[in-house]
Amino acid sequence: MSASQPQAIHRKDYRQPDYWIREVALDFDLLPEATKVTARLSVEPNAAGTAGAALVLDGEDVKLLALKLDGQALSAADYTVEERSLSIEKPPATAFTLEIVTEIAPAKNTHLSGLYQSSGVYCTQCEAQGFRRITYFLDRPDVMAVYRVTVRADKKLCPVLLSNGNLEEQGDLDGGRHYAVWHDPFPKPSYLFALVAGDLACNEDSFTTQSGRKVTLRIFVEHGKEGRTGYAMDALKRSMRWDETRFGLEYDLDLFNIVAVSDFNMGAMENKSLNVFNDKYILADPETATDADYAGIETVVAHEYFHNWTGDRITCRDWFQLSLKEGLTVFRDQEFSSDMRSRPVKRIKDVRNLRARQFPEDAGPLAHPVRPDSYIAIDNFYTATVYEKGAEVIRMMHTRLGEAGFQKGMRLYVERHDGEAATCDDFAAAMADANNVDFAQFKLWYSQSGTPQLDLAGRYDAQVGAYELTVSQSCPPTPGQPDKAPMHIPFAIGLLDEQGRDIPLKLEGAVAAGASIVLPVTQAKQSFRFANVPQPKAVSLNRGFSAPVNVRMPQDGAERAFLIAHDSDPFARWEAGQQYATELLLQRVADIRAGKPADAPYDAAFIDAVRQILQDDGLEHAFVAEAIGLPDEDYIADRMEVVDVDAIHAARKALRRQIATALRADFERLYAANRDTGAYSPDAAPAGRRALKNSALGYLSALAEADAGLRGQIAAQYRAADNMTDRMVALRLLVDIAGPERQAALADFYDRFRDDALVLDKWLALQAISVLPDTLDRVKDLMAHPAFSMQKPNKVRALIGSFTANTLRYHAADGAGYAFHADRILELDPKNPQVAARMLALLGRWRRFDAGRQDKMKAELQRILAAPKLSRETYEIASKSLGS
Ligand code: TRP
Ligand code: ZN
Repeated sequence: MSASQPQAIHRKDYRQPDYWIREVALDFDLLPEATKVTARLSVEPNAAGTAGAALVLDGEDVKLLALKLDGQALSAADYTVEERSLSIEKPPATAFTLEIVTEIAPAKNTHLSGLYQSSGVYCTQCEAQGFRRITYFLDRPDVMAVYRVTVRADKKLCPVLLSNGNLEEQGDLDGGRHYAVWHDPFPKPSYLFALVAGDLACNEDSFTTQSGRKVTLRIFVEHGKEGRTGYAMDALKRSMRWDETRFGLEYDLDLFNIVAVSDFNMGAMENKSLNVFNDKYILADPETATDADYAGIETVVAHEYFHNWTGDRITCRDWFQLSLKEGLTVFRDQEFSSDMRSRPVKRIKDVRNLRARQFPEDAGPLAHPVRPDSYIAIDNFYTATVYEKGAEVIRMMHTRLGEAGFQKGMRLYVERHDGEAATCDDFAAAMADANNVDFAQFKLWYSQSGTPQLDLAGRYDAQVGAYELTVSQSCPPTPGQPDKAPMHIPFAIGLLDEQGRDIPLKLEGAVAAGASIVLPVTQAKQSFRFANVPQPKAVSLNRGFSAPVNVRMPQDGAERAFLIAHDSDPFARWEAGQQYATELLLQRVADIRAGKPADAPYDAAFIDAVRQILQDDGLEHAFVAEAIGLPDEDYIADRMEVVDVDAIHAARKALRRQIATALRADFERLYAANRDTGAYSPDAAPAGRRALKNSALGYLSALAEADAGLRGQIAAQYRAADNMTDRMVALRLLVDIAGPERQAALADFYDRFRDDALVLDKWLALQAISVLPDTLDRVKDLMAHPAFSMQKPNKVRALIGSFTANTLRYHAADGAGYAFHADRILELDPKNPQVAARMLALLGRWRRFDAGRQDKMKAELQRILAAPKLSRETYEIASKSLGS
């Protein structure tokens, strides 16, 4: 290892800073190429022992113009500037002020971290470490200060000047410029600082809090797009009300601003009272946004708003605690969406997402605990593990304590830590103390990585009428953690009788949740015995997905079909179908590899179970749509020792065809019955009907290659659609079928939406996920298309990101997909390392493939690592992916 290789930072090394910064006055003179930033910092030693210690400030890509201490200019001998820091060797031993003048170039900031320009609008992104790209600072979340911010800019180009908190003053300046002064009374870490300046349109509304304070709400967007902000505003108001009613948390300022920008590294950002969003999570109308887009907007608007308490009022002590705010806030946004929509369907979607994104992460070279122990670049740890598994950890606490107990814990957490930078341990302690429970073993969920596995065996003793369930837990080794201790796993189960009814269950020490019982699984192996019960006809496992684990229990098709037909727990009902299909598909993959035909008849009992679901009028439309959906190809791949992408694709395609053939009449009936959902509304009920209609059309499309009538039906839906959901689904189906319908629809879509960047992202993405064999060539062509740009993260994700998610084509045996991927990472890394590194992770799955693909994937990772001047972000992902 050469000395220049980036070094890791360790959680165990945390200590408080030597200095606090209590007040910050920032002064921005905005110019695209040379913005002058003056920062006046009130600094004080942390403790007697740190007085006079060297003050080391973080800084990156900033030019130091001037430096004064207590009004006196410092001479070159008094300080040292290095690539990533500014050190003052001998500061005074008492409180002092530091004035730092820096120069930055927002127009040249392609990292989209710090202060940058997006379509002419100045905006900031400071989480996690962007503030140091604006000025020198103690850029760490435990340093909390009160900010006063003066923004100066050209009045014509930037009529809108925003920062955190309240507007104190504004006025005109010479030379066509003007200014505004903002003051945020709440102390905050630097990562929550924000500034926006530009020419923006505004949708204004208001919200009256439960205590009667009127809050002005503003959503700023590009001119001409105000008409697409109504749903986001509605979601914001519902979020504010919900946080009051469910959590007792009220908004704390008189103004709440949201700004939507088109260049953004992530989804959105919770800066105090000035949230900045990727415009994809704000803009919607029926012609341009799908039902899924609307649901995404509702979730992200809520998520960022909820951070006001879980993130801003109570923030993180250090970045290892990231899940303190993110896991908890994801849990809160999931609960919000569940309360707004269908709870079972939301749970199913969240579990699908967890399995698609977090389980593979936890099983690969980048696996890390919910509270990581070390990092090289913190931006690499905004992961599915920290967010989604973190939310599952909070959910398990909720399951264990119940809603009332959980809310008691929340109140104690807020009472103890409001205004502070806290830790995951602090949160767990508040939950435990408020409820008098012991979380010692449970907290392993924060420190152990990997997805636990439960192996189950059931036995009925007819003589005494008792059922015994034996549970063994294990957790595979993960990087740095070869051996795991048994965890506390709250495992909800139910037993079904002959009629499919729940058998009432009692067990000492176990919480009953409705008809289910939550088993406290705590040992490597243990048995749970239920006395005085009839012989169960079926066992329902991990109800509601009470724990983020893999479950293995030998169950035959008949038992699974029985659960699909009768389980009172909707999640378990869906899951029985998924596991049934998974087993059939895995068996078929093995058969194909043994030379048998892909399209041999599948188990008729499974197809009957699907038929029953389709014919059950008592079920929610959206639930049926989920329940008839087969597990995706990646889920099957995750269950295989060595992935065979072609066999998986062939097996799944054959099953879809056979279901479509057998149930064609049902699909046609459902399509007709749900065809017209009336005037468009994004609400859960009509969206559910569209989901069911469109999954019926999806099955029918499995027969469309040989059926011009069906192709015509799909093309007709495309043309007649009065909303983007129906139009997109039809186009999605057509892009997989070579022929004139495909060409015509793609050309029409482009013509209709050629001026709408967000909609063209869909157009790029659909072409990149096509199963057609020439997809990579099309993607390469599209890179030269005016709709694409390597400078815009949304475009890069739409085209390149979607292609890498196209498992069948990305993993082409000749390695062309891998080489294309690596070329793009190398192209992107110098421009935007955060996005480059995030997009790289997929190559790290090489261990899961055959020797030929392994070699090709590893060679690409090595080629990336060999590049000169690789960013720390990409270096970390590439080196860990290779296992070095
Ligand atoms: N805190 C943001 C959220 O989850 C995440 C985020 C937004 C972010 N922008 C970022 C993280 C840039 C890292 C870098 O709501
Ligand atoms: Zn968040």
